[in-house]
This record gives sequence, structure tokens and C-alpha cells, in this order.
Amino acid sequence: MGWLNKKKESIDPDRLPDHVGIIMDGNGRWAQKRGLPRYAGHVAGAKVFKTIAYYARDIGLKNLTVYAFSTENWQRPEEEVSRIMKVLEEFIDDALNTFEKERVRIRFLGDMSAFSGVLLEKMERIVEATKDFSGLTLNIAMNYGGQHEIAYAAREAARLVQAGLLKPEDITPEVFGKMLYFDDCDSVDLVIRPSGEKRLSNFLLWQSAYAEFWYSDILWPDFKPEDLDQAIIDYQKRNRRFGGV
Ligand code: IPE
Ligand code: IPE
Ligand code: MG
Repeated sequence: MGWLNKKKESIDPDRLPDHVGIIMDGNGRWAQKRGLPRYAGHVAGAKVFKTIAYYARDIGLKNLTVYAFSTENWQRPEEEVSRIMKVLEEFIDDALNTFEKERVRIRFLGDMSAFSGVLLEKMERIVEATKDFSGLTLNIAMNYGGQHEIAYAAREAARLVQAGLLKPEDITPEVFGKMLYFDDCDSVDLVIRPSGEKRLSNFLLWQSAYAEFWYSDILWPDFKPEDLDQAIIDYQKRNRRFGGV
């Protein structure tokens, strides 16, 4: 009767990763497996995104960055890109209706110059409306690429040097890290990638220098709060050495 005594593992709330990143991958394959068009996977994925984001808040996570659309995803058929944008817009519409209840600070990580019109307006509105919430900060990576972000920071540094405000020899990892898109987001502790792929796909390149990785074959629309629990439980068993002993 060993199973009776087997205590279910649970998260240690005192040792949560400070910053979790999720590559929300596998929407297309989830839909194809069901004989549905790829966009149906993005619709299902957006639902899961909402569930997981609010669950992350409930368990006490402080920083969650989700990869929603990469700088490379523009290569997809126009129809799919516009469906993904629509789904993101619907997420923002929902957040605009519920932010007072949900109390999550929402920000967008990426090159925002690609966005305009109603979508950009809604993005700006939700950022402004939620900027003072102090529980979970949800960074939605949209038109995000890690290499683009590093190039952006390099341009910032170059400008400061050109203006005589910074000396080249003062550009340390600490100083450079503050020039990324957000000055409070220069490392990630745990990167989660469902869908079976084992690559970063240009996600948080600088920030993941010492990240722990958690992979799973689950497709994103099938991802459950228990899977986030499991990723954190596994993370809490890792021995992070940061190059030390
Ligand atoms: C992730 O799912 C969503 C985005 C990249 C926007 P995919 O659309 O990449 O799904 P797969 O990898 O093709 O299954
Ligand atoms: C990474 O997934 C981007 C997002 C999940 C938004 P992709 O599906 O674009 O990555 P690759 O093409 O498999 O590397
Ligand atoms: Mg994919």
C-alpha cells in the first residue's frame, strides 16, 4: 500500500524562481492532430495562456515572460500572422475588461515599432492601466527576438558613448543588461518549452545565460497548471552553481 503513504510533491513557496519564461509552442501541431486549421491551435493556446498567467499569479510568481510572437514569425503565411494578432488583441480586450479584478501588471517585450492602430492603442492602454500592480508582472514577448534585443542595447550603449555620457570601458555585463528592453529584466531563472523542441528560438538570449531549462512533449494547448507546478518542482531540485562549486 505504498501509494497511500506517497506524498504528492509540491512547490516550495519560499524558493520560487524569480523569473520564469515560457515558449508557448505547439499550437499548430495541436490543431493539425485534430484535423483543424492551425489558427484553431492559436485560439486554444490563448485560452491556456490566460489560465497559466493567472495561475502563476496565484502561486506567487513575481515575473513571467511568455513568448507569443517572434521576430521570425512574420515569415508565416499572412493569414496565420493576422489570426495570431487577432488572438492577441482578444487577450488584451479581455484583460482591459478584467484587469481590476486580476491585478496583474502587463507589459510587452519586443520591438513595438511593428505595431500600429487599434492594436497598439490597446497595448498601450493595458500597460498604463496595470502599471501599478505589484504581484505578478507578465511580460508578453511580441515581435521579440533575443538578437534584436541585444542589438538594440548595443545601439543604446553606442549612443551614450557618442554623447560622451559613457566610456566604452564602463560597458560591463551589469551596465549592458540595464540597456535591454526592460532594465529590471536581465536574467531568467527557468525557461519552459513544451512541444518537444529543444531550442531557444531567439528567446531571452542574454537573460538565459544561467537559466535552468525544462522541456516537455506536451503541446501548448494541452499545458496545465500541474505542468507549471512540475517544472517548478524540478527546478527546485536543481543545483545551480553559476560557475562555482
Ligand atoms: C506557437 O505555436 C505559437 C507561435 C509561434 C505564435 P506554433 O504555431 O509554432 O505551433 P507548431 O510549432 O507549428 O506546432
Ligand atoms: C517560438 O516558436 C516562438 C513562439 C513560441 C512565439 P517557433 O515555433 O516560432 O520556433 P521554431 O520555428 O520551431 O524554432
Ligand atoms: Mg512552433
